[in-house]
Amino acid sequence: MDRIRIVGGQRLQGTIAISGAKNAALPLMIASLLTRETLTLHSMPRLADVTLLGRILGNHGVDITIAGKKAGQSTSDGQTFRLTSGDIVDTTAPYEMVARMRASFWVLAPILARCGEAKVSLPGGCAIGTRPVDLHLSALEALGAEIELEGGYVIAKAPKGLVGGRIHLGKVSVGATHNALMAAVLARGDSVIENAAREPEVADLANCLVKMGAKIEGIGTDTMHIEGVTSLHEAEHTVLPDRIETGTYAMAAAITGGEVFLEGARPDLLREALQLLQGSGVEVEETATGIRVARNGSGLEAVSVETQPFPGFPTDLQAQLMALMCTARGVSEVRETIFENRFMHVQELARLGANIDLNGDTALVTGVEGLTGAQVMATDLRASVSLIIAGLAAQGETLIGRVYHLDRGFDRIEEKLRQCGAQIDRLSG
Ligand code: EPZ
Repeated sequence: MDRIRIVGGQRLQGTIAISGAKNAALPLMIASLLTRETLTLHSMPRLADVTLLGRILGNHGVDITIAGKKAGQSTSDGQTFRLTSGDIVDTTAPYEMVARMRASFWVLAPILARCGEAKVSLPGGCAIGTRPVDLHLSALEALGAEIELEGGYVIAKAPKGLVGGRIHLGKVSVGATHNALMAAVLARGDSVIENAAREPEVADLANCLVKMGAKIEGIGTDTMHIEGVTSLHEAEHTVLPDRIETGTYAMAAAITGGEVFLEGARPDLLREALQLLQGSGVEVEETATGIRVARNGSGLEAVSVETQPFPGFPTDLQAQLMALMCTARGVSEVRETIFENRFMHVQELARLGANIDLNGDTALVTGVEGLTGAQVMATDLRASVSLIIAGLAAQGETLIGRVYHLDRGFDRIEEKLRQCGAQIDRLSG
């Protein structure tokens, strides 16, 4: 199994190109199931999750081609995918596939909407929490689907097609909003989704669906009105920049006392996080082409934060912020309100010398003078990258195991950090 080795203490300095967002790319790929025609997606990130989802979609009959590099393009431009779902040849998403990637559960809505039936394995829990799917199922039921659970599978049927209806999501859920939206666009009649997730990735999916011929109003708000259409058509869409990757590199620059330009980043996608960083003593400058982040000479101050659905501080940046706060002056309070078990990084950060006291959903991080390199283990995607952030600031060598978690969601991370002066490499085997 590969490991990542970091020798800490180098200030990050340079430019990092921000890739297309993983959490937008995945539902956009799944949306290709909604039409027989070709969906072209630009700025696709190079990620293990994208490759795996491509294989899963292939099993349903989606043909995917990846365009070759054009003159003047570099790897930082992302890839262009063409996805064509002429016939859906298999309406079942088996356990072996859905268990490997939770987002693949979202094929449920488009396959049901297009074929009148779908059988998709329950995704099960994962390292960060139990993660049920009740909201996904009640959304589809609100559009007339009959749902049964059998042998670990969701079997959804709508033999006469889905019908428009009122979907009220009892809790803000990104995935349930994706599923509800993809079902409603092909349902007969009008639908409304109330308490919809307002995450930019949901809006990105909705904007792409509109390009495909869907009729959606209220994009980016918590109430979306959808007028069903009989079919969708070809479209071309560019995946929005990854706000979590942006925040992650901003924190990496800050912990090392460096200065980086995050090229292509959009500040409007992470206002709350940027304000928090500024409150902690990080300089943030917004430009027309990206965000410049630098730490002023006086060091970092502790900040307190609670994770919230968008536009609040994202749970997907909680681990990284905690790593940053490990060396800040004072005590930071970090409360996780979205996932009940998203603190797996705490014990690993402690190996590097962090002082974190965990009590229920709240962690108190008391800043220490400095961190020291150690052997640590990645437990999930965002926890792994928090260890990279801490490792960049730690004295000596940090070895991170189980890095396959990182490859799921960070596009060429070692290359991007190395370009800015980090001493980071991958040890194979
Ligand atoms: C998406 O997961 C993201 N994944 C997650 O990113 C992200 O952490 C999460 O949204 C929250 O922002 C992708 O986009 C691929 P939810 P999702 O449904 O949709 C509860 C990462 O690191 N809930 O918004 O699965 C759930 O348990 C990943 O990139 C129900 O109770 O998350 C949680 O407490 C990890 N019933 C809350 O809602 C349901 O039916 C929010 O989860 C569904 C969810």
